[in-house]
Amino acid sequence: MLVSAAEMLKKAKAGHYAVGQFNINNLEWTKAVLLTAQENNSPVILGVSEGAGKYMAGYKTVVGMVNGMLEELNITVPVALHLDHGSYDACYKCIEAGFSSIMFDGSHYPIEENIEKTKELVKVCADKGISLEAEVGSIGGEEDGVIGMGECADPKECKAIADLGIDFLAAGIGNIHGKYPENWAGLSFETLDAVQQLTGDMPLVLHGGTGIPEDMIKKAISLGVSKINVNTECQLSFADATRKYIEAGKDLEGKGFDPRKLLAPGADAIKATVKEKMELFGSVGKA
Ligand code: 13P
Repeated sequence: MLVSAAEMLKKAKAGHYAVGQFNINNLEWTKAVLLTAQENNSPVILGVSEGAGKYMAGYKTVVGMVNGMLEELNITVPVALHLDHGSYDACYKCIEAGFSSIMFDGSHYPIEENIEKTKELVKVCADKGISLEAEVGSIGGEEDGVIGMGECADPKECKAIADLGIDFLAAGIGNIHGKYPENWAGLSFETLDAVQQLTGDMPLVLHGGTGIPEDMIKKAISLGVSKINVNTECQLSFADATRKYIEAGKDLEGKGFDPRKLLAPGADAIKATVKEKMELFGSVGKA
């Protein structure tokens, strides 16, 4: 059964480790992440962006697929199905479809409007036992070939949003989605520290987990980060393993063109990346 992410992240914050959110893109992805979580006895959050939801034929399809896998693969570790960077409308669609956790990303609204909309969703989610993530300070990344630098959130605005009764908070601390550019200044631990001082026990979320050096990940966890989002790194591992298979001509040998064979090295590569992250985040054995 899917669970809200509130409990697992409260435990992570108290235990000084982080739970990984791994974004899913298809059946192979979902199966690879779930099996790795089970094998490592780790709680896990499956992230679904609006684009990925559309690609997988809609949120209801995703809920059906994930619930089916939990049962058929005998997954017993805590699993949350979470909308990643949801718009106001997508939040309601996912709540209706059966997601157990949502992120409302109101970071592009003026703070008053972000507060207003987040407050409304706090009530809706609380009534249904769904966890809610909110965001302050937008997280940069590549758009149309240009890499936007991540913002640093205003700690006072973070406190205002945290006080609304959300379950976990994403605060921009100079992090960005996708690969980090050569001239990246690194995470702003000063901002993270200030946010944690004001928000206390609130589990903090680090987006853009791909490519952040290990020592920075560990320091971020020590300063209150309890959820780390990883997407691009699994995509890179999958693409690399699939390219090697094709370049070695394996699809041309026997039945090597069978998708169950062709996609297997990529799925194994995702499993290896997810395991590595779970070990780094400290969530192994914490289910
Ligand atoms: P990356 O793609 O950089 O790993 O970021 C994932 C993320 O933050 C999803 O919200």
